[in-house]
Amino acid sequence: EAGPPGLPGTPAPQGPKGDAGAKGNKGNYGFPGLKGQKGAKGDTCEQRDQGRQRGQGGPRRAGSARGMAGKQGDKGEQGRKGSKGEPGPTGTAGPKGDPGPKGGRGAPGRKGSRAPRSAFSAGLTRPFPPPHVPIRFDRLWFNESADYDPNTGKFRCGVPGAYVFSYHVTVRGRPARLSLVASGRRVAKARDTLYGQDIDQASFLTILRLRAGDQVWLEVAKDWNGLYAGAEDDSVFTGFLLYPDGVEVLL
Ligand SMILES: *[C@@H]1O[C@H](CO)[C@@H](O)[C@H](O)[C@H]1NC(C)=O
Repeated sequence: EAGPPGLPGTPAPQGPKGDAGAKGNKGNYGFPGLKGQKGAKGDTCEQRDQGRQRGQGGPRRAGSARGMAGKQGDKGEQGRKGSKGEPGPTGTAGPKGDPGPKGGRGAPGRKGSRAPRSAFSAGLTRPFPPPHVPIRFDRLWFNESADYDPNTGKFRCGVPGAYVFSYHVTVRGRPARLSLVASGRRVAKARDTLYGQDIDQASFLTILRLRAGDQVWLEVAKDWNGLYAGAEDDSVFTGFLLYPDGVEVLL
């Protein structure tokens, strides 16, 4: 069995000096040194040139032929605004525009032309007209147009429209049978039976719509032509335009 550790021994005496070791590695850079003193004043260019002229300088040599192109410079500042240019040539016409808004109502127009007129009133000058032909009321009492012809006893419509026709006749000595004829048609008939020296009046009035060219007249029947005309007795045929068709009459 091992016993306990023994007591420390006494130190040994110093041994002999060893050989020099190998060269160590290069050390790190040191800190920068202090600023040096100002140097003496050098020659100016002018003094150098003078020295060369006096032959003191070395031989004059030409510089290298041409230097290398420098680097591109920085971009310059933006220039000032230029002056205004000449106006350009006229362009071609553009497309037609939309129609404008409707204009306001114009001033009222002038009065239109005169309203058409047609009116006549004609009397009989001889009694007992012949039958079945237009009675010639040959004395014009009133004449406002050439529509009624006293030579034929016919009214000829010039202005289409509504017309009033009437007769007021004296009947004496014979019976009378009167017809108003319009466009070849008997549109109104009337009789008066009278004999001897008696005197009577017969009358009639109607409204007819006529077209241009329509003809209107009065006629008596055979043996019934007792229409009379004398100093004291008149027989009158009258017609006039009541209003025209399709014409706006400005008054
Ligand atoms: C009736 O009057 C019209 C117009 O004024 C005229 O043209 C015509 O000749 C007259 N007729 C007669 C028979 O006087």
